[in-house]
Amino acid sequence: MAVGIFDSGLGGLTVLDAVSRRLPEIPFVYYGDNAHAPYGVRDAEDVYELTTRGVERLWKAGCDLVILACNTASAAALRRMQESWVPAEKRVLGVFVPLIEALTERQWGDNSPPREVAIRHVALFATPATVASRAFQRELAFRAIGVDVEAQACGGVVDAIEEGDMILAEALVRSHVDALKRKMPDPQAAVLGCTHYPLMEEVFQDALGPQVKVFSQADIVAESLADYLQRHPRMRGPGDEAMYLTTGDPGRVSDRATQFLRRRIEFVAA
Ligand code: DGL
Repeated sequence: MAVGIFDSGLGGLTVLDAVSRRLPEIPFVYYGDNAHAPYGVRDAEDVYELTTRGVERLWKAGCDLVILACNTASAAALRRMQESWVPAEKRVLGVFVPLIEALTERQWGDNSPPREVAIRHVALFATPATVASRAFQRELAFRAIGVDVEAQACGGVVDAIEEGDMILAEALVRSHVDALKRKMPDPQAAVLGCTHYPLMEEVFQDALGPQVKVFSQADIVAESLADYLQRHPRMRGPGDEAMYLTTGDPGRVSDRATQFLRRRIEFVAA
């Protein structure tokens, strides 16, 4: 009954943590493509190749359902994978749709035509590749009309967090928020569209001000996965063992993951 969680590296552990807390009975298999991270500065073709390779590995580990925790992979590769690559008996789901459903106050799978929603001005913070894909705006346009989205590519933030340099990460977040506010002075909501940004949520909220509702994806994705599995119980794959797989050096990745999550995690070679 295992479910796969794919990420470019360590950031998806924020999502893994939330889904494991929400669904403690499910063994999750985590795949971190640390050898090729970060994805946020790669082109769409590259992200597609790497993501499909990782998802195949998770299928091999008995996960018929794979969640792309990585926003960059969800933005740059998911639609193409769903349209022409994922076999009928498997599923690959991304992190944007649950977030947009929360933003537009829709129930899961509500496919009714786009309609006006309460929020009109949305700031999106994401990696350069996610911003370039415009996937967020496209998915939003299927569900809501009249919403103005201003996207800010947050160069450097992922690297600073991965290096453990939280002072630099905070300075970069504040400067990206300033840049966003020059383009959109009064956003009503902000979407943290990257696996790493929940770790900086307080800084985003502080820099944006208390009047801005900040949407951070880990808990939203966990809720949406619980709902999905209730309606599609057969998508729990045959795997029965939780595992942490990495394409990087397992010892180094385990040490960094332990710092990142503040509990010991042992990765093995993918
Ligand atoms: N996991 C990526 C995302 O959520 C961030 C890290 C990267 O650039 O690979 O967009």
